[in-house]
Amino acid sequence: MKSFSILGISGSLRPDSTNTIILSAFKGLLPADTHFQIFQGLDEIPHFSPGLDDTEAVIRFKKAIQQADGVIICTPEYAFGVPGTLKNALDWTVATGDLNDKPVSAISASPLNTGGDKALASLLLTLTALGTRRNDHSSLSIPNIKHKIGPDKTVSDQETLLALKGQCDNLMTIIAS
Ligand code: FNR
Repeated sequence: MKSFSILGISGSLRPDSTNTIILSAFKGLLPADTHFQIFQGLDEIPHFSPGLDDTEAVIRFKKAIQQADGVIICTPEYAFGVPGTLKNALDWTVATGDLNDKPVSAISASPLNTGGDKALASLLLTLTALGTRRNDHSSLSIPNIKHKIGPDKTVSDQETLLALKGQCDNLMTIIAS
């Protein structure tokens, strides 16, 4: 049976990012033979403007997406929106269509009880514009995230782990379909 490759993209650049911690949990939730890596260097991607040539970081970002069977994006919300770094990176893929027909799971996490829902809604609009392959279960908003991470900096809340497993299973089903 074919083994799959999944790319994680965190919308946060913070070393202790709760969103990156959530992404790290996927390593243990995906099927055992699935390759999973979190993209490093989103902050090396220059400001997008049409007509600019792809830099080394942009090429690396696009190649990581192209080589993945599916993508999981986990992002915080800043000022009710998607962090500029993440939106900027996604803008680079518009012309080349790297995310077109790509199975994607979109997650937002926030210390507030809104769960970053406005950033998630905005991200989903962008992912629709990019032609990603999703269904009604391809997104998840996680509120009060600080209470769901243990002192060892892993996701400790069982309900959240179950919801993340649901994202895994749904993503793998979309990939296989
Ligand atoms: C935030 N935060 C935040 N949270 C939210 O739910 N909605 C928002 O609009 C904002 N806006 C915002 C602006 C600025 C300038 C900061 C510094 C923070 C809180 C944010 O969700 C929190 O810092 C998260 O912990 C960031 O995610 P990571 O880095 O832990 O993944």
